[in-house]
Amino acid sequence: MRNLTLQLRFLVPLLIVLALAAYFALPLMDRLTLRWFARDLNMRGALMANALSDSIADAMQDPRGRKLQALFGRAVLDERLVAIGWCPPNGKMAVRTPTFPRDIDCNDAERIAGEPDPQLRVEGGPVHVSVHEVQAESGPVGRLVLLHDLSFIERRSQDTRRYLVILIAGMGVLIAVVTMVVAQLSWWGWVRGTRALLRGEGLLRPMGAGLEPIAQELRTRLRDLEDEYRRARTQDAEWTATRLQSLLRTQLRGDQVIVVSNREPYIHERGPDGQVLVRRPASGLVTAVEPVMRACSGTWIAHGGGSADRDVVDRHDRVPLPPGHKEYMLRRIWLTTGQEQGYYYGFANEGLWPLCHVAHVRPVFRESDWKQYREVNQLFADAVVAEARSEDPLVLVQDYHFALLPAMVRARLPRATILTFWHIPWPNPESFGICPWRTELLEGMLGSSIMGFHTPFHCKNFIETVDRYLEARIEHEHSTISYRGERTFLESYPMSIAWPTPEVMAEWPSPAESRRQVGEELGIPAHHRLAVGVDRFDYTKGILERLHAVERLLEKYPQWRDRFTFVQVAAPSRGVLEEYKAFQQRIQTVTRRINERFSTGGREVVRLLAQHHDHDAVNRLYRAADVCLVTSLHDGMNLVCKEFVAARDDEQGVLILSRFAGAARDLTEALVVNPYHVEEVADALHQALTMPAAEQRERMASLRATVREDNVFRWAGRMLTDAARWRLRERVSLRVQRHRGADDTRG
Ligand code: F6P
Repeated sequence: MRNLTLQLRFLVPLLIVLALAAYFALPLMDRLTLRWFARDLNMRGALMANALSDSIADAMQDPRGRKLQALFGRAVLDERLVAIGWCPPNGKMAVRTPTFPRDIDCNDAERIAGEPDPQLRVEGGPVHVSVHEVQAESGPVGRLVLLHDLSFIERRSQDTRRYLVILIAGMGVLIAVVTMVVAQLSWWGWVRGTRALLRGEGLLRPMGAGLEPIAQELRTRLRDLEDEYRRARTQDAEWTATRLQSLLRTQLRGDQVIVVSNREPYIHERGPDGQVLVRRPASGLVTAVEPVMRACSGTWIAHGGGSADRDVVDRHDRVPLPPGHKEYMLRRIWLTTGQEQGYYYGFANEGLWPLCHVAHVRPVFRESDWKQYREVNQLFADAVVAEARSEDPLVLVQDYHFALLPAMVRARLPRATILTFWHIPWPNPESFGICPWRTELLEGMLGSSIMGFHTPFHCKNFIETVDRYLEARIEHEHSTISYRGERTFLESYPMSIAWPTPEVMAEWPSPAESRRQVGEELGIPAHHRLAVGVDRFDYTKGILERLHAVERLLEKYPQWRDRFTFVQVAAPSRGVLEEYKAFQQRIQTVTRRINERFSTGGREVVRLLAQHHDHDAVNRLYRAADVCLVTSLHDGMNLVCKEFVAARDDEQGVLILSRFAGAARDLTEALVVNPYHVEEVADALHQALTMPAAEQRERMASLRATVREDNVFRWAGRMLTDAARWRLRERVSLRVQRHRGADDTRG
């Protein structure tokens, strides 16, 4: 129906133009044919006058004119010649055939013959008038007036007109048929092409090779526009919680946002005297996602692992957060000890964690852990479906705990937009290939609409892994993977922190005051330079290598003995696992050894604080420090370095950063080191401790500008903008399909 209307829009004007052409062309044709025939008749008349000249000269011998009369009588037997008149030199008509009009004399005939349209209407119809001089041997003897029949011309002109009308009508019908066929084919082609364009693919079956460059140009232009739009939006204005909220209001109008993560944003614990305490876990994921969730007011589904978690939820296992503010809802999922052991400690942290970090710890894969992992993923997927208020919620899946969940949700909510963010590195295909369930994991992840990693390098590794182990179609140009009819878009979104507001900063003790307080609490003399490390107690963080570097610093640069203290905060993490236990013990041993070697006056040169520190305590440490050490052996992003930079509004302090942390890509003004190279890190420490204040300021100011701009709201904003665009494309594509369906049914 839609394309019939389109065709009519073209056909009606075409028919009008053809009718107008016929209307104006017919009289023109008439005039032209008449002129051609008139010229013919004039020639014919001249020939006749010539042919009759001798006979006329003879007949003129008869003074009564009878011979002329008889001659003319015979001549008008010609079917085209109607009448003849004879004008002798005196100008009076001497002889005329009976058919010659009585009221026309020689002068009248001369006048009419000189006109452009020498016509006269007589009884039998229109006649053509021509006058011809007759020459005898003696010279001109008179003029012959010939009246030729014109009615046959009219008959011929009617025939021509009829043929012309038939020709124009035929052409009209032919053009209409061709137009309809071409339009129909074009419509199908364009619909397919548009759908393909909307999906970011090429034209599936182009109408002709000529269309592909146009589509290509169109796509490039669209992408340029998107880039311009994105640049305008991201460069000119800072990303803030308010801006993220307005993005949700405008581009994701009313869409429900559901976050899924293993770690919950707040843990309720029972204190020693029975009261309920709320604690923020040491987790980069929580640091990044919580401010976003506060802006979105959605639902966060996470494992309830706190000893008092069950005591504060309602009958649907929900609790509003943050405590006292109620900005979003946390839905807690309860796991049995067996499930937690197999899914979290076993498959996620003994299997996937070392597998993806490639930090020289062997991954362990147990069939029983895999079973629990699948079971728990299904449990969380069911919770997503239960929490969904529509058939197409926006589901933000976090991390390696839920590689199978995207496909599980997709199976139940095919129209959901599933954005999975992988917070840890993605290894190369060979390393990933040792996982016995590599295919299942990849298939699970490809249930996502969008897969996000911190860096383009991790995206590339993921694409190569899929390419190696699955029969999938990869479009590198668009960064998409199509697998079993579903498409996944891959993108890097470097995660960050929320930049502190002026109100928050106003509460902070000054750097000097922070240093005084820290010194007092830990017994660090005022003349000591202070370096800090803040991490979860994890073997990927390079804590051992850091300690070796501190030891080497004190060996190589003895001037720092009794002038330097290193404080390492190591938040307890996954301590039930053997690998972690052994690692933590090793750190204790090495710390002891260094302290035995270099402590002076009973003061430890290395202070290992292996307990949880709240955000204020950590922030105070950052502000008190001269140097912050981040020496991860491999890290998706690492937010500690960004927190340190954000804490230094005095633009002092030096950041030493591992080149194997995702953050090293952007924080280039840090002293970037290879953590495995002890000598290099020791030298970097020395360089940091001796760095002039002006250089520190220059580096720190630049680092602060980067982190402030690339904050967590930009991270979330970019993901949500892509999700919104994805949803729009899906909706348009669905609408086109429905229209086609309706058209086909009607047609
Ligand atoms: O780095 C991966 C990650 O999930 C982070 O997002 C988070 O900081 C950390 O692991 C937390 O680990 P867990 O939840 O096991 O304590």
